[in-house]
Amino acid sequence: MSVSAPVDSAGKPLTKNENLLKWVSEMAQLTKPERIVWCDGSEEEKNRLTEEAVAQKIIEPLNQEKLPGCYLHRSNPNDVARVEQLTFICTPTKEEAGPTNNWKDPKEAYEQLGKLFDGSMKGRTMYVVPYIMGPAGSKMSKVGVEITDSIYVVLNMRIMARMGKVALDMLGATSNDFNRGLHCTLDVNPERRFICHFPQDNTIWSVGSGYGGNVLLGKKCLALRVGSYLGKREGWLAEHMLILGVESPEGEMTYVAAAFPSACGKTNFAMMIPPKRFKGWKIWTVGDDIAWMRVGDDGKLYAVNPEFGYFGVAPGTSYDSNPNAMKTISRDTIFTNVARTPDGDVWWEGKDGATPQELIDWKGNAWTPASTEKAAHPNARFTAPATNNPCLSKFYDDPAGVPISAIIFGGRRATTVPLVMQAFNWLNGVFYGATMGSETTAAATGKVGVVRRDPFAMLPFCGYNMGEYFQHWLAMQSTITNPPKVFMVNWFRKDKNGKFLWPGFGENMRVLKWVVDRARLRVGGQETLFGWVPKAGDLDLSGLDIPHDQVDEATAIDLGEWKTELESYDEFFKSLGDQMPRALKLHRDLLLARIDAVT
Ligand code: GDP
Ligand code: PGA
Ligand code: MN
Ligand code: MN
Repeated sequence: MSVSAPVDSAGKPLTKNENLLKWVSEMAQLTKPERIVWCDGSEEEKNRLTEEAVAQKIIEPLNQEKLPGCYLHRSNPNDVARVEQLTFICTPTKEEAGPTNNWKDPKEAYEQLGKLFDGSMKGRTMYVVPYIMGPAGSKMSKVGVEITDSIYVVLNMRIMARMGKVALDMLGATSNDFNRGLHCTLDVNPERRFICHFPQDNTIWSVGSGYGGNVLLGKKCLALRVGSYLGKREGWLAEHMLILGVESPEGEMTYVAAAFPSACGKTNFAMMIPPKRFKGWKIWTVGDDIAWMRVGDDGKLYAVNPEFGYFGVAPGTSYDSNPNAMKTISRDTIFTNVARTPDGDVWWEGKDGATPQELIDWKGNAWTPASTEKAAHPNARFTAPATNNPCLSKFYDDPAGVPISAIIFGGRRATTVPLVMQAFNWLNGVFYGATMGSETTAAATGKVGVVRRDPFAMLPFCGYNMGEYFQHWLAMQSTITNPPKVFMVNWFRKDKNGKFLWPGFGENMRVLKWVVDRARLRVGGQETLFGWVPKAGDLDLSGLDIPHDQVDEATAIDLGEWKTELESYDEFFKSLGDQMPRALKLHRDLLLARIDAVT
């Protein structure tokens, strides 16, 4: 099948790029669709595809008076999260992918998946989705093209990335520099599900899934896995980080990037509303999941959010916990695997108000409060445009990015890790990032609640050898001459009865305020063996109605627990082999030796 240059509704060519046309014809020859649709990103196209998706029962309209432009999608129950065990980095050698990634030989992967793709779109439509990750025209941005057989993917990509004509224009007539993504839902059979990345070819092949993280190829696959590889090669950082701006009552703006693992609070933190005590303070969202960061001429780190929308966790989202998210998802949003009320509203565990007496659950079955199963899947998601967000930063689309003054690492830890701590220096900060631990969540299939090492919240997303990635972070010190200060936080520490010690959500502003003041060198700190912590009285707790000894418990550093913690890194560091930087191993030994020196 040879592909002719696509035209817009007025008959003008959308692109004449021969590299793109050639690749699209090759993929069409492989998958053998009945027809090819090039997506231009227009409103007209959105309306047409939405109607088609409704007619095909891929999505169903929700109550259009309550939730204008909102739709519900129910995925196959075997396809509700990222599948780390079926995700592969296909580099020429296994060593390049490293011990934390699944590896396939590129030639074998192309062959194996090629067989699955062969004729996979017979009798159906192939959509060609050009998109940009990052602001149009920014030197930090990258163009990708995703070929897919799924209207759900097209409609989601339209929200999550700058999609259509704008991307073809940025690619231009001659460039060959674009990510080649091929996706086919196939029969949604986990036995025939593979998400393969070919960093050297700037190519991604995904088959057998319809779940966001596996199929919206711009997000985890390009912006993180391939992105991190490109970052290493080109001297920048692709990170699993939110980006927010903190505005003080005086109008001073400070930008912070924070890496928390999936379902550990990024979207909430990025949209936080400060408590009453912080009158005049305001949080602005630049991004809620991914940051691309480069060193500017002034030696500072500048970040852009490559995405254009939010693919957020629905359960737990409420007017109480995250009002800005609730407003963001009140229109033009695709809900996946949430429950539906009889009048066409959406519901999930942790939403405001009383639990409805009857619902259709995420699997499409009748549900009542007596049901033993959850009404919404724990990893139910919303896909919503960034421009719906009432606290969207006006710099979210700035091609230059925003200057980052602080980087925060945080996991979900019931013990050990204190509420907040500042690293002594870059090395100490990289050590925090590299040794981050977190309990597993519903964002990936597998057991939930098990502590694992999740370095930089990138364990599932680093597209190359983890030890080399640590080394890349260490090496960045030579170019970031004006580095952000680095912090570690933990919103999830529990008391002996298993209750969270820290109220979290908006109250995290109290911690953020200290972070900002430290980054701006205007508040002291208490030195500990592992870093700086707030001096007594420095964390603003006024108006917070929890007992002070509960805060003490949340902020405490227990040397015994830390000894066990640091000792447990040994096995992890060894598992990373020869690439594990010596500086980080020595840093661990030094911290252990310092504990021994004082105990
Ligand atoms: P993301 O996947 O990293 O963007 O995380 P989300 O912001 O979507 O939050 C994931 C889950 O963690 C949701 O159920 C939230 O309600 C919960 N969560 C977020 N922030 C906090 C917090 O500060 N404290 C507690 N206890 N839970 C939180
Ligand atoms: P999350 O994004 O980090 O908001 O959960 C999706 C994911 O990481 O799978
Ligand atoms: Mn994520
Ligand atoms: Mn999120």
